[in-house]
Amino acid sequence: MITDLDCMQLAWAQARREFGQTWTNPQVGAVLVKNGRVLAQDYHHQYGKHHAEVETLDQLADPALAVGATMVVTLEPCSHYGKTPPCAKRLVAAGVARVVIGQRDPNPLVAGKGIAILEQAGIAVTVLGQTGGLNSAYNFFYQHQRPLVTLKYATSVDGKLNAAGTQRTYLTGPAALRDSQHERAGQQALLIGEQTLLVDDPSLTVRTFAMPYPPVRLVVVRDADRLPEQLHVLTDASAPVWLLSEAPTSRTWPPHVQVHVAAHWTPQAICALVAAHGLQSLQVEGGSRLLAAFLAAGVCDRVVAYVAPLALGGTALPVAQGPAAEPLALHLTAVTQLAEDVKLTYGRNR
Ligand SMILES: NC(=O)c1ccc[n+]([C@@H]2O[C@H](COP(=O)([O-])OP(=O)(O)OC[C@H]3O[C@@H](n4cnc5c(N)ncnc54)[C@H](OP(=O)(O)O)[C@@H]3O)[C@@H](O)[C@H]2O)c1
Repeated sequence: MITDLDCMQLAWAQARREFGQTWTNPQVGAVLVKNGRVLAQDYHHQYGKHHAEVETLDQLADPALAVGATMVVTLEPCSHYGKTPPCAKRLVAAGVARVVIGQRDPNPLVAGKGIAILEQAGIAVTVLGQTGGLNSAYNFFYQHQRPLVTLKYATSVDGKLNAAGTQRTYLTGPAALRDSQHERAGQQALLIGEQTLLVDDPSLTVRTFAMPYPPVRLVVVRDADRLPEQLHVLTDASAPVWLLSEAPTSRTWPPHVQVHVAAHWTPQAICALVAAHGLQSLQVEGGSRLLAAFLAAGVCDRVVAYVAPLALGGTALPVAQGPAAEPLALHLTAVTQLAEDVKLTYGRNR
């Protein structure tokens, strides 16, 4: 006999088939079962496309097969007209008898309204109250009203970001670089400090696979108008760039570049800007002073450290240099060996 949890495992596996395509929409998977037999299963493929329940129903050769069936879906079916019509109403119209839901949708546009539509139509609803480890940024964003912040860096074994500070130090090997592209692809916004922009001149793009909505690239600067024109983020238009400047701008910028001006771009002010645009995750990629600013503000939910097998010694730039911070308690969530490098992933204790 196939249990609700067995079906939910299949639905979670469906949801995980998507990566980097649904932008601010959650990863969702669905399975339709009847008389202990799986009739169809699918997932939400891309932002703006059908949701998982609809993709699954659309797979049926005969729509009448859904009558009396159970829809098992990782997230509460939506109740609102967004890019697509409400899934809860589609389930009612399809004639399913029961819906098993992994977790309620924390998005206030849905939050219980999808379940209400189903129950009012006489459909039995079971909520398992489990996320399956999916949508951590989506859930965090609606719970805390700010993006989930990851501090990500490559370091030597003695905790240094850079040998001298005036030119880029390549610390990690190709496997770690590939992995860090994957980490970027899981983010909606990336942030660096001005010195990192000037010294490293990164493009801050995802180059390993195509994304319909690549992460927005943010840089904190004192005065945007003083930046050299040939920097990669200014010449490469493949993703939006937001310059967070303390001085107003009078320069003409390429179409992909926006300048946001504030008296002081604190980590809280940066998070508020990102959240105001509905972006649910932010990865801070250095340098040392910017990482220190986020630690001092206590704005850090996750750390990804790539540790390279070399030591840089006393005059090299430490991972975080700046104002004092309260100790931040973390727990280790993964250790991954990437050729000669080691990736350490931590979550914040809450
Ligand atoms: N290994 C790695 O993973 C990695 C990653 C990134 C960078 N790096 C290295 O780190 C070095 C740069 O680090 P860094 O510490 O010198 O500079 P940074 O953190 O990249 O940038 C700090 C700069 O941003 C300005 N800034 C504006 N608003 C700020 C704010 N709210 N908080 C903090 N800074 C703000 C600061 O201006 P003021 O000077 O006026 O304070 C300062 O010039 C480079 O050498 C780079 O190679 C290594």
